[in-house]
Amino acid sequence: MKSLLLDFLRVTEASALAALPWVGSGDKIAADDVATKTMRQYLNQMEIQGTIVIGEGEIDNAPMLYIGEKVGLGNGPGVDIAVDPIEGTTPTINGQGNAITVIAAAPKGSLLHAPDMYMEKMAVGPKAKGKIDITASLKDNIEAVAKANDKKVSELNVLVQDRPRHHEYIDAIRAIGAKVYLFNDGDVIYATATCIPSKNIDMFFGVGGAPEGVLGAVALKALGGEMQAKLLPKDDEEWQRCMEMGIMEPENPLTHVQLVGSDDCIFAATGITENIFLDGIKEDHGNYFTHSILINGKENKLHYIKSQHERNAILNK
Ligand code: FBP
Repeated sequence: MKSLLLDFLRVTEASALAALPWVGSGDKIAADDVATKTMRQYLNQMEIQGTIVIGEGEIDNAPMLYIGEKVGLGNGPGVDIAVDPIEGTTPTINGQGNAITVIAAAPKGSLLHAPDMYMEKMAVGPKAKGKIDITASLKDNIEAVAKANDKKVSELNVLVQDRPRHHEYIDAIRAIGAKVYLFNDGDVIYATATCIPSKNIDMFFGVGGAPEGVLGAVALKALGGEMQAKLLPKDDEEWQRCMEMGIMEPENPLTHVQLVGSDDCIFAATGITENIFLDGIKEDHGNYFTHSILINGKENKLHYIKSQHERNAILNK
């Protein structure tokens, strides 16, 4: 998998650059369309036998990068691929922070095929790995994470997405005595932040997209952290979709191994706009600079990559 890292970097850089003209445009469909087309075009140049397991939707609703689509030249290793050509479409078209393009991959058969619905997620960094239990109370989890991180509960920092559905959790976490830091969009990056010691984030908790859950779970796996999750099908139709994707007991919590079944996983993300640890795309005298992270699970290594792209090279793609 490691040998594919730079190819995946090319994919996320190209998709982010393709989305750039749509930052602030108000046009969600056009932004998503161009990023998706670009991502697919670059994936199809790679020497892999890739299968999209997390993508733009199911085959009937998504013309490109749909779940089950085969990508790549068909002559390399078999890989499961999770993509989000724009994670944070709303902030992209509103010219706000927290938009990235992101890909994760692992050997064939090792990523959960998650339907597009809400998922409850709890994530922690390496020190608290093995200490959380999504079926236990928030209080028990917060106390366990504080102990593992050698902190008082009052020193514990928890990231939660700023949504009305989380008000109850926010109040509960603060009542227990821990600190809540809110973010607006992009839970893949914020879940990953639990594994970056300099960010001083002890825990991530909340309900967000299931596809983003699997993407974040790969980054956490590759950095030695832990994510646990629970699908939240809202009606019979969503329940049925879980079954069709092989999740026969959707009410059961998902362990990290069920989300990502291999340590040999990789993760690449490029900032479209800035976020907690990546700059967005910057222009300087006709050159464009992208900022990305690459994570390699085999070595638990995180690389920050700044690349320069000539304006003409982008326009001619
Ligand atoms: P999009 O890529 O669909 O724009 O998702 C952005 C995001 O913030 C995700 O990171 C998160 O999982 C999800 O939205 C939460 O959904 P909602 O916006 O419905 O609260």
